[in-house]
Formats: sequence, structure tokens, C-alpha cells
Amino acid sequence: MTENLSSQLEKYLPRPVLALAKIAGKEASELGLYLVGGVVRDLFLGRANFDFDMVVEGDAISLARRLAKDSQAKLTIHSRFGTAKLNYPGFSFDLATARSETYSKPGALPTVKPGSLKDDLIRRDFSINAMALCLMPHRFGELIDLYNGKDDLDNRLIRILHPNSFIDDATRILRAIRYEQRLGFKLEAETEKLLRRDATMLDTISGDRIRHELELILKEDKAELVLWRAGELDVLRQLHPSLKGNGWLSQKFEQARKADIRASLSTLYLCLLIYNLTDKENERFISRLNFPKNSTQAMRHTLQLKSQLHGLANLQLKPSDIYQSLHSYTTTAIHANTLASESAIASQHLQLYLTKLRYVKTLLSGEDLKRMGITPGLQIGEILSALHKARLNGEIRTRKEEENFVHSWRQRQSG
Ligand code: CTP
Repeated sequence: MTENLSSQLEKYLPRPVLALAKIAGKEASELGLYLVGGVVRDLFLGRANFDFDMVVEGDAISLARRLAKDSQAKLTIHSRFGTAKLNYPGFSFDLATARSETYSKPGALPTVKPGSLKDDLIRRDFSINAMALCLMPHRFGELIDLYNGKDDLDNRLIRILHPNSFIDDATRILRAIRYEQRLGFKLEAETEKLLRRDATMLDTISGDRIRHELELILKEDKAELVLWRAGELDVLRQLHPSLKGNGWLSQKFEQARKADIRASLSTLYLCLLIYNLTDKENERFISRLNFPKNSTQAMRHTLQLKSQLHGLANLQLKPSDIYQSLHSYTTTAIHANTLASESAIASQHLQLYLTKLRYVKTLLSGEDLKRMGITPGLQIGEILSALHKARLNGEIRTRKEEENFVHSWRQRQSG
């Protein structure tokens, strides 16, 4: 019997989304228009998902153009992929022409040609992501579930659609683990067997694509669970043989979340992930995954600072010494070391820098010093840095004290 989810659509979709989905379905009633993928999965699970992916059995771009004309949607077209995005206030629809995919060799991007909804569903990663809901008026809400995705959802299983799935596209290995841990599901037994068998196929995937999957993992609420499971399944070592998704990492990720760092949490996770690599291993990992400049700098700084921590584990250090040792490192690298350092004293010093010292500024500026008669040039820089140092160490606090400091500095110079 065909299942119909129109009442769930009515209940869970926000009013304007529902109204526009119906208009789109009507416009495409001759062709076939379907809601597909993650949003259908999440509708069953009662999880919020505002990525409305739709498949058209026909020309998605011309359908999107017609819909844009009759509404206030902003239209973006990707002719090369046969896809279009309609941006409405507060949400968007992604429309794609139904397609079939074939893989010329493992890890290659697929060869794509227009196809039916069935072709489009068979090319997908897991049964729970391969369900569709009809949007045409005469079949509105009808579930199309060719691979028993609904049963797998009920049984909380991640299942691939055919035995070569991980070979065709090994990014699915990382995706499978990500969904398993996000949803609290299990890999179906045969899927787990094939995943273990094909883990080395990750070697066929470009650095950029693997990095993208790692970034998605690091955006998960409990990224440590995904990394832990990837370690257990011998998958993490495919990214780099020395990476570990162990208890230490889990503890540090949890602490990172509690630390409320204001910077990018995923970059901090990344710095913790590589914390126990050597410089050489880190460089290999960076080049394999082709990390962009920002992440690369944070990762390198993390290890450089780690090698300097013994110098910071000294109770005699003045605040200005701490500032001097740390000010050239990226904040994320300092956060990572605060969490990961084994020395409580070093951690305290890093923390002091992050919460206080890095914000310390002199009240007098270079312009003020010029007005006080200091000749522009090197001297100004020297006085400002002496002022800054004295202020860090709590030796001066007010503007008046800064001015006095400058006067006695001048006297010392002339005397
Ligand atoms: N997909 C796939 N194989 C991939 C990537 C994506 O089959 N390697 C399909 C899946 O059907 C997926 C859909 O494309 O549901 C959309 O991909 P994506 O946005 O990455 O996934 P979502 O399911 O929307 O997942 P998430 O909740 O993580 O955004």
C-alpha cells in the first residue's frame, strides 16, 4: 500500500513553504516534482531541516524560472549541473533535474545524464536518504520508498543501496559514520562489513572532498562520537595513520564546547585532532587534505606553541613575558593549548592571555606622544611598547601615570 504523508507535510512544514511547495507541484504536474533526501528523512524523524531539495522529472531550470516569475523569489541558476535555487524570505528551494549517475572509476566524479526519479534515487548514498514525497496535486504527499528507507528508519539502520556503493564514492564511508552517530543509529551488518572492506578506497578521493567531509563531521553537535567511531572502524587512519579518536579527544572536545570560545569551534576541534601529531605528520595531513591558509596556520601554530609550553610553565613569569611569548600565535592555537596542555601553570598563563592580556592597550596613542613633543620615528614605537609593558604588569593604570611614565622616559634619555 502506498503511504501518504500529506498530513505530516501540513503539520511540519511552515505555512509559506507548504503554500509554495503546492504551487510548485501544480506547475510541475505534467512532469513530476518530488521532495527528496535529508528533508524527507528528517520529516519522519521530527527533526528540523530547512534544506528543501526537490527533484523534477524534466527541466528544473525552466520550472524554476516559471516559479520565480510568479513570486518574489531570487533565482540562482547552475546550468552546468541543471540545478536552480529559489531563495524566498527565510528559506530556499533547491531544484534539480532527475539524473542518473555512472562512475568511470572509483573516486571519480560521476558522469551525469537526465533520468527518472527512480534513477535519481538509486544513485543516492543510503536508504534513509533515498526516499521521495510527491508534490503534484493528484499525488500530494505520496511516499516513494524504493529501498525500504522507512523500515530502516524504524529499525535505526544506515544501509547502502548496493555492494559497490563505497567503491563508487568513498566519501560515503565518512557520511555513513556521521549519520550513524548523529542519529544514534547503527550501520546495518552488511553495510558495516563493506565499509570495513572498502575503507582504503578513501585513497581514491581528492583532498578537497575528504576535507569537506571532515568539515561536516566537525560541525556535528557531537563530533567526537563520529571521530571515535571512525577510529574504531579503522577509517580515521585513512585520513592520517596517527590520528586517534580516543577518550582524550572526546574529553577535550567536550571541554572546548563548554569553554564558549567565540571563535570557530570546528577549527579548534581540528587543532585538538592534530595535537598529538608530530610536525612532519601534521604537514602530511595538511597537504593530503589541502587545508586552506587559515586552518593551516592554526594547526601549525598549535604545534609550535605546544613545543614552547615548557617556557610558559613558570610561576615567575610576568604578564608582559606571557604577552611577549603568545601575541604572535593565532587565538585558536592558544585555545587548543589551554585545553590540551598537561601543565596547569602553562594553562593558567594561556588563559590569562586569552581573557585579559590580549585586550590590554595603552591609553596614549602615537599622536598623543607627538603632541607631547616626542620626535616622530623609532622613539615613538619604543615608548609605546615600554608603556604597554608597564601597563600589562600593572605598573601604570591611569592616563596621568602614562604621561608621567613618558616624561621620566624622556628625562632618562636626555640625562
Ligand atoms: N547524496 C548522496 N551521496 C553523497 C552526497 C549526497 O547520495 N555523497 C544525496 C543524499 O540523498 C542526501 C542528498 O544528496 O540526502 C543531499 O545531500 P546533503 O545535503 O549532503 O545531505 P542531507 O541528507 O541533506 O544531510 P544533512 O542533514 O547532513 O545536510
